[in-house]
Amino acid sequence: MNDKSITDHESSCAYRAAILYFVGDPHQLGEQAWHYHEDGVLWVEDGHIKAVGPADQVLALLPQRIPLETFAHHLILPGFIDTHIHYPQTEMIAAYGEQLLSWLNTYTFPTEMQFADEQYAASVAEVFLDELLRNGTTTALVFGTVHPQSVDAFFQAAQQRSLRMIAGKVMMDRHAPEGLCDTAEQSYADSKALIERWHGVDRLQYAVTPRFAPTSTQQQLNKAGQLLQEHPGVYLHTHLSENTDEIAWVHELFPQSKNYLDVYDQAGLLGRRSVFAHGIHLCDDECARLAETASAIAHCPTSNLFLGSGLLPLDKLQKQGINIGLGTDVGGGTSFSMLRTLDEAYKIQQLRGNTLDPFQALYFATLGGAKALDLDQTIGSLQPGFEADFCILDLQATPLMAFRMAHCRNVRETLFALNTLGDDRCVERTYALGRCVHQKEFK
Ligand code: GUN
Ligand code: ZN
Repeated sequence: MNDKSITDHESSCAYRAAILYFVGDPHQLGEQAWHYHEDGVLWVEDGHIKAVGPADQVLALLPQRIPLETFAHHLILPGFIDTHIHYPQTEMIAAYGEQLLSWLNTYTFPTEMQFADEQYAASVAEVFLDELLRNGTTTALVFGTVHPQSVDAFFQAAQQRSLRMIAGKVMMDRHAPEGLCDTAEQSYADSKALIERWHGVDRLQYAVTPRFAPTSTQQQLNKAGQLLQEHPGVYLHTHLSENTDEIAWVHELFPQSKNYLDVYDQAGLLGRRSVFAHGIHLCDDECARLAETASAIAHCPTSNLFLGSGLLPLDKLQKQGINIGLGTDVGGGTSFSMLRTLDEAYKIQQLRGNTLDPFQALYFATLGGAKALDLDQTIGSLQPGFEADFCILDLQATPLMAFRMAHCRNVRETLFALNTLGDDRCVERTYALGRCVHQKEFK
């Protein structure tokens, strides 16, 4: 084998299985929003999607030399997109018995203290990325800690694996232990240096990350706004309206603001690349303002149930036309799996007297997440030209799944069973930029 054939082999490959991807939002486009091929082929070249479609059509185009792998009873999906997660909280997932504010003080802050040590941060970043990829998640919007070195460690680990990741250092200058507080000026300088070091390097992007309004002074929130102004294209990532005690506290701390979102609005933090985690208890004005500014909500079902935060009125947000992604919110959330997250998302809507269609749910987990991150021309779909981030899911990963799938009468039922019963055991392979970054049997 000469060098050329090795390169060809590595840079071009085709995969045959059922394939599903979205080209728009089912809430707006109905069945036009997705393409489903029961027997499909995905052809990947140079890290991007070259072609996708029914097997007979794509195979007719596929040169003989390109390797073709076939997966019976499997489904190819775009890689999942997790629009809100904390990598330093990996080790404290499943911490018992508290709601948000006491949970932060009891578990979160002591855990995050350890990330002053960059070696420690680097070791957790590896565990975290392994876990994302084992669950088929290829892009995430990620909180670090207040320590800039926590973000250096994370980006280095993500860069080594050629992953598309967005992350930022927490800005927090009050109401937290001394070892976790910066100042408005220091957080500005540290964030700026990180933006210059990492934003736009390979597949990495930076998010300005004030933790939430109660742990920042007005001065620090203004500094966050200044960073956004000075660096067009960076993201804003924070929490919003998660817990009723938190909201009451925000009203006390910022009496001049109309509502919680207005605190961020006054600091210039809303916009197309702004992502607010939770948004459970928003008033009509806040919803309208999110929609108007094209800001996004990261809905975090497992976290909202685990921390007893509340039930998201998804229909209200959708009616307003707000961009919505899904987040696991580990460690407030209880699973890295976006399939587990979809299961809980459905149950939350059931408790609200609504439902969540399985296509709509999978849209949120893929292209909807990409849209929330303003990356819907790049990832979250399998259209030709998109980056080849995808996962191959085993629809018969457990005996119960195999038994249930045999009784599904159509693709909607199959997808709903996948969303409801699936987890990391379904993820046979995960690919980033066309390269296999997780293979189940090797673990
Ligand atoms: N609000 C402020 N900080 C946090 C956090 O770490 N997790 C969650 N779920 N909410 C927050
Ligand atoms: Zn969070």
